[in-house]
Amino acid sequence: MVRTIPTVSVPDSVAFNLGHILPYYLRGIFTKNEFWISFWNKVHRDPLAVNFIRRIRQKYKSDYFYIYLLRTKSLVVLDPDGIRHVLDHSPLPYAADPDLKRRGMSHFQPNALTISRGAEWKDRRHFNEAVLASGQRIHPYAIHFHRAIEQGIESLTANLGQYLVWDHFDHLFKRITLEIIFGHEARDDTALADRLTALMRESNRVFLLGKSKEFDLFYARIRQHLRAAGNGSLASMCKHAPSTGVTKVENQIPHWMFATMETLATNTMRALALIVSHPDAEYRVRQEFQQYDPRTPEKIDRLNYLEGCIQEAMRLWPTTPMLTRQTTRDDVLGGNTIPSGTQVVILNGFNHRDWETNPHAGTFRPEFWLEKRSDYRFNHLSNGTQVCAGKSLALFIAKAVIATLLLRGRYVLRKPRLNSRRPLPFQCDDFATCFEYFRTFHAP
Ligand code: HEM
Repeated sequence: MVRTIPTVSVPDSVAFNLGHILPYYLRGIFTKNEFWISFWNKVHRDPLAVNFIRRIRQKYKSDYFYIYLLRTKSLVVLDPDGIRHVLDHSPLPYAADPDLKRRGMSHFQPNALTISRGAEWKDRRHFNEAVLASGQRIHPYAIHFHRAIEQGIESLTANLGQYLVWDHFDHLFKRITLEIIFGHEARDDTALADRLTALMRESNRVFLLGKSKEFDLFYARIRQHLRAAGNGSLASMCKHAPSTGVTKVENQIPHWMFATMETLATNTMRALALIVSHPDAEYRVRQEFQQYDPRTPEKIDRLNYLEGCIQEAMRLWPTTPMLTRQTTRDDVLGGNTIPSGTQVVILNGFNHRDWETNPHAGTFRPEFWLEKRSDYRFNHLSNGTQVCAGKSLALFIAKAVIATLLLRGRYVLRKPRLNSRRPLPFQCDDFATCFEYFRTFHAP
């Protein structure tokens, strides 16, 4: 017999909002807030609610439960089959644009793919897939992207002192992002990147968002870059990719920008931190370089163990801690009818670290990914129809950056102190992360 989905008690909902949704909101939904991230990392060991959700599951004896997220009654889905069903049926009937996400994202990228539905989503997805070469492991312009990465790292390491910290990754990835998206000449247009960050900082507020004074300036510059797109850039592909009146090309670009310059920068730095704090992993990564000298896109693509390290960093510390959906019609989940208009939540932060269903949840195990590139239990890059359209590109860039850095030196993680024999902490404090850099290897 199918059990009705329980609704958690008011005190449990309040505890969840105060203990987990409030910190999640303050840390920055769209762009990172350094003050609050550092604050919560000091005072809150489990902001991803791993222990809290485990207790809720035990108490209500269910892998589905309704809980309030602020004022919205939301269905949390922990059941792996349910998660697969939701992700395989996005964006219809599981639309990826619940109210808060649409409001926040529309502030800086109205018409973006991720907040589109129906025919508009199909049209924009088609365009994004063509430019990002989603179906291919190696992007047709990978050679240009690789050159941008090598030059960026050459300039970084030439001026690097004893320590490598978040600001270096931030700077490096801004430069790489601008070059990959708009071309070589655009690589120093940090004003454009800063303008997007300013818009996203405003979006973090989610409420009371009027049109920003940055908006028109930001898009005017995007249009200029599209007109002057450099050879071998994503912008230069936009002209040839299938687009129609509904595609809204300029509105697709901010997603590529923030996903590369902030999300990917964060994940790449964390992956490097995990590699150098796990001697066996670093050994295997360097062994892989012996087999596939990572100086060409084809060889970089072959670095499967390194790719596993990056996927593990994303699994352990998912930069998208939750995926939200809203049903556009009634649907059935776990044998229960879910009414149209229900907000559905997939808690990556919990699912990825649930040691009751996965005893290795807190351990860095890159080999898990050697045989596969996806697993519906782990949705840091999402899965199903609305899987990250930049997945292959993101993995390629991260591998190229880490390989190029490791070829140029040795890194010792000074902060945070990660112990390879103990479960990893639930959070990684990016702003406090610090590597000591030793230029002991011969530069290429
Ligand atoms: C480590 C880096 C990245 C992570 C962790 C990541 C993660 C994700 C996730 C979780 C989604 C699904 C969001 C949802 O369904 O609510 C998504 C969608 C998307 N990502 Fe990424 N992403 C990354 C890098 C990139 C890059 C580099 C690009 C492009 C250059 C990109 C482009 C997209 C696009 C266009 C979508 C929307 C797909 C759709 O709605 O159909 N991502 N990404």
